[in-house]
Amino acid sequence: MSLETETKRRRTFAIISHPDAGKTTLTEKLLLFSGAIQIAGAVKGRKASRHATSDWMEIEKQRGISVASSVMQMSYRDHVVNLLDTPGHKDFSEDTYRVLTAVDSALMVIDAANGVESQTRRLIEVCRQRDTPIITFVNKMDREVRDPLDILDEVERELGMPCCPITWPVGQGKSFGGIINLRTQSMTVFAPGSEKRPQDFEVIPLTEADKLRARFGQAFDDAMESMELAVGASTAWDHDAFLAAKLTPVFFGSGVNNFGVMEVLDAVVDMSPSPGPRVSTVLVNKQPVQKEVKPSDLGFAGVVFKVQANMDANHRDRIAFVRVASGKYEPGMKMKVQRTGKELRPTSVVTFMSQRREAVEEAYAGDIIGFTTHGGVQLGDTITDGANLQFTGLPFFAPEMFATVVLKNPLRTKQLQQGLMQLGEEGAIQVFKPDAGGNMLLGAVGQLQFEVVQHRLKTEYDAEVRLESSQYTSARWITAETPEALREFETTYPLRMAHDAANALAYMCTSPYDVRLAQERFPKIQFHPLREHA
Ligand code: G4P
Repeated sequence: MSLETETKRRRTFAIISHPDAGKTTLTEKLLLFSGAIQIAGAVKGRKASRHATSDWMEIEKQRGISVASSVMQMSYRDHVVNLLDTPGHKDFSEDTYRVLTAVDSALMVIDAANGVESQTRRLIEVCRQRDTPIITFVNKMDREVRDPLDILDEVERELGMPCCPITWPVGQGKSFGGIINLRTQSMTVFAPGSEKRPQDFEVIPLTEADKLRARFGQAFDDAMESMELAVGASTAWDHDAFLAAKLTPVFFGSGVNNFGVMEVLDAVVDMSPSPGPRVSTVLVNKQPVQKEVKPSDLGFAGVVFKVQANMDANHRDRIAFVRVASGKYEPGMKMKVQRTGKELRPTSVVTFMSQRREAVEEAYAGDIIGFTTHGGVQLGDTITDGANLQFTGLPFFAPEMFATVVLKNPLRTKQLQQGLMQLGEEGAIQVFKPDAGGNMLLGAVGQLQFEVVQHRLKTEYDAEVRLESSQYTSARWITAETPEALREFETTYPLRMAHDAANALAYMCTSPYDVRLAQERFPKIQFHPLREHA
C-alpha cells in the first residue's frame, strides 16, 4: 500500500475524562469490539491504583502498567486505530497535555449525572488551543442522570462550540429504553449486561412508532419531543465544522453495558481525521523557517511526546514514545536526534498492542512507536532519518510549586546529577539550575511529582535527598527583543536567573506580582508561562 493509503486509514485519538466518568470501561469496550482483546477485564487491572494520592509504591505500579497500556493500537474496519490514554491523576496533568499533542482527535467521556467536570475542563482547553476535533460520549445512561437537553447545553457552554446529537436517549436509569440513531432513524433497544455484542441489540425503525410507543410508553414520546427540540436548537451535522473543532457530535450510551459504544467506534473511523500536516522549523541559511511536514512526505520524521523509565531498576533504559509525523519506519533504519545531531541507536523499537509490546515491522504517520534507549533522547526531540527539521509545540508549563534539593550524602553528587538530568528529560519534574550556583531547584505542577521524584532518586539512582521549601512560587521563561535587553535584565536580577533541563533561561518568581513589576520595568523582555520545545 502507498504511504498515502496507509496514512489515510489511520486514526489517532485520545480519550479524555474526569476520573470515574468511565474512561477505562469505554477503552476496554472499544478494544473488545475491535477484536484487540478477547476478554473484558484486561484493561481494568490498572484501575486499582487510580485513586492513589501519595502512596508511591502504587504510583510505581501504575507507571509500570501504563507503559504497556497507555497506547493501544487496534484494527477496525480496515483502519488502524491508535488510542492514547491520558493519565487521570491531576498531578500528572502535564503529561496528559503532552499526550494531546500526539493525537488528531479526542473522545470526551462525561458522566451523564455529573456533566462536564473540573479535570475535563482543563483538557478541553488544551484541545481548544490546538483546534483538536472532539467527539462527545455521554455515559451512564442506565443511571438516574440529568436531562439530555441540559447536558447538551452544558457541553456547548464548556466546549464553546455547538453540539450535534447523533444518538438520542430514550428514558434513563430504570426506564432507559435505548438510543435513537438520528442518521438511520431507528432505535437500538437497551439490554443490560457486559457480555453483549453490538449485533445482540434489537433495532427497530422509527417508522414503527406505534410499536415503540407501546413498548416504551411515555419515555418514547418524551424522547421524540426532546430530540426534536435538540435538533431544532443545534446545528446540522457539518463534517468540516467538526474537523475544524467548531462542532462536536454527541453520543449517548452505557459503557459498562457495551451499549452505544459501537456507534462511537464507528464515529472514530467515519468522522475523525486521518493524520494531517505538522509544523516544524528548518534552518535555512542558519535562520529558522517554518515548514509543513505532510504525512505522505517520504522522509521519516517523528516527535518524542513522552519518555518513560522502564520498571526494571537494573536497566536504566527508557522508552521514548514517538508520534510518527511522516514517512515510514522500518526496522534497521538509521535515525538521528535533531537536537544533538547524534544517531539514535535504540535497543529495540516497539509498538503497543493493548496489553503487550511487539517489535515494529512498519509504522506510518499517526502511529506511536516506542524507542528503548539508554539516554540521549528528551521530551520534544525530533527524530528523522536524516532531514534537518524540528517540530514545535510540545508544551511545558511553568511550575506552580518549587522545592530545593538537598543531597543527604555529598558523595552521591554525580548520581544526583545524573538522576535529575534523566528525570528532567523524562518530564517527571522540571529541573532548574540557578545561574548563581547553589542547590538545584525542582519545579512541579502537582505535589505528587515531588514525592515520586524523591522516591525514584533513592531507588533508581541511590541518591537520597531532602526536599526543602523554596521561596519561589513560579517561573517564567524569558526571551528578549535584543541581546542587550536580555543582558541588562540578567544583570539586574542575577539571583533570579536559572536554566532548565533544555537549557532555556527562566526568571524565578517569588510572588504573582513579580512578573508584572519586572515586565513594567523591562518592556523589551517577554515572560512566557509556557515553553514550547523548539
Ligand atoms: P475512569 O476510568 O474514567 O476513572 O472510570 P471507570 O471506567 O473505571 O468507571 C468508573 C465507575 O463507573 C466503575 O464503577 C464503572 O464500572 C462504572 N461505570 C462505567 N460505565 C458505566 C455505565 O455506563 N453505567 C454505570 N452504571 N456504571 C458505569 P466502580 O464501582 O468504580 O468499579 P467496578 O467495581 O464497577 O469495576
